[in-house]
Amino acid sequence: MPNDAPRAHAGHESLYGSPGGARRGCVSGPGANLGPGARWRHQDQEEKARRLRSAFVAMYGEDAGCGEILVVRAPGRVNLIGEHTDYNEGFVLPAAIDRDVTIAVRGRRDGIVRVHSLNYGESVKFALDHISYDHDHPWSNYVRGTLKVLADSGAPLRGMDMVVAGDVPAGAGLSSSAALEVATAVAARAVAGFDLEGRDMALKCQRAENSFVGVNCGIMDQFASVLGKAGHALFIDCRTYECEPVPLPEEYCIVICDSGVRRGLQDSAYNLRCSQCEEAVRLLRRHIADIRTLRDVLPEELPDVERRLPEALRARARHVVLENDRVERSVDALRSGRVDEFGRLMVDSHASLRDLYEVSCPELDAMVEVALAIPGVAGARMTGAGFGGCTVNLVHEDAVDEFQRTVLARYLCKVNPSRLSLEPQVYVCRAEDGAGVVPLQPCERDKGQRVPPPPGAVF
Ligand code: GLA
Repeated sequence: MPNDAPRAHAGHESLYGSPGGARRGCVSGPGANLGPGARWRHQDQEEKARRLRSAFVAMYGEDAGCGEILVVRAPGRVNLIGEHTDYNEGFVLPAAIDRDVTIAVRGRRDGIVRVHSLNYGESVKFALDHISYDHDHPWSNYVRGTLKVLADSGAPLRGMDMVVAGDVPAGAGLSSSAALEVATAVAARAVAGFDLEGRDMALKCQRAENSFVGVNCGIMDQFASVLGKAGHALFIDCRTYECEPVPLPEEYCIVICDSGVRRGLQDSAYNLRCSQCEEAVRLLRRHIADIRTLRDVLPEELPDVERRLPEALRARARHVVLENDRVERSVDALRSGRVDEFGRLMVDSHASLRDLYEVSCPELDAMVEVALAIPGVAGARMTGAGFGGCTVNLVHEDAVDEFQRTVLARYLCKVNPSRLSLEPQVYVCRAEDGAGVVPLQPCERDKGQRVPPPPGAVF
């Protein structure tokens, strides 16, 4: 199951306000574009951090003599282009977004970890020297797995108390689980004070997801969450792990449309695509000695390569090879300010995912079609693993209000409502910085009040 599946944080809004409330209003106003907006952004993060700190104090008390309460955050991501290429060691172009998982954390003197999830209203407790899979609280396995991988690699972890909250919609293809893993790693690093460089952190979080949670994902989500840069997408070479920020056009907004479709099919279909790519490489190795992954095939070699593959694998290989090429061309187009060309590449990417890789669904196709008919939309495509979840749209800032007003109504006219698990949503996003400690002003830190624990609190 890729980490787009509906299993991490439910899209709770209690800590952050309703999805249609102030947050959305703000992003349509000043600071809504992908450029400056920094002032608003930091205020928003501080506000979330302050509220989470208060929730922490309510849960665990103000002063346990174990040092200060820190607040860390790790963003979700949206992939702009380069889909199903990361596990083929190819190229991707995601952006970290202004929806994140936030953790308030304080160290302990023993090796115990206590975690309370505000989204689930559940608490767990475990010892750092005995971390095992928790079938009753699946959300906690992202925290457990990350700490286990860090512990196994020799990181000098400390016990911690944590309160976790997130506003990355779950199961939407926006990497809520990578955000939880990365936020956990940042919290552990901040509390225990060990060194862990960004790429290494991302790889360890991916390992947690692969080996502990048991989800076969590539590296894109964790890299974007750790290394994202405000106003930029991240061009990642998934073979060398080199990352370069690519500036996004200031007068355009990233608008995410959640189709409302959540498919259980996703797990097995994702794993099947991974193994089809591996199988294609295995067959090609007989003819191309130094091929390691589909990344090694150039577009001009496709006719020859396709001839050597059974029909079922041809289309898969074709998608991966041409998608890698599209990512490189997208980076070039964005760097030269050719937004329309980038938009066309997004549209081509969607068609390829629909027709060659076969990971789209009628609802994602309908959402893309409806979006592209709205003036001011430069490009639209499905994003993430597919079979449901979201589309990503590049919309001119002057057209965002009209887009928000019309896109869902038109979408709902085209789809079968009985196939929707959730109400479709529109999120106007900004490209954000990657994970880190949220700096709180000293006066704000002191505002946490001692209030009685909420009813049902375990500790
Ligand atoms: C999921 C995985 C990513 C990537 C995408 C498809 O989101 O977690 O690693 O493979 O699917 O591009």
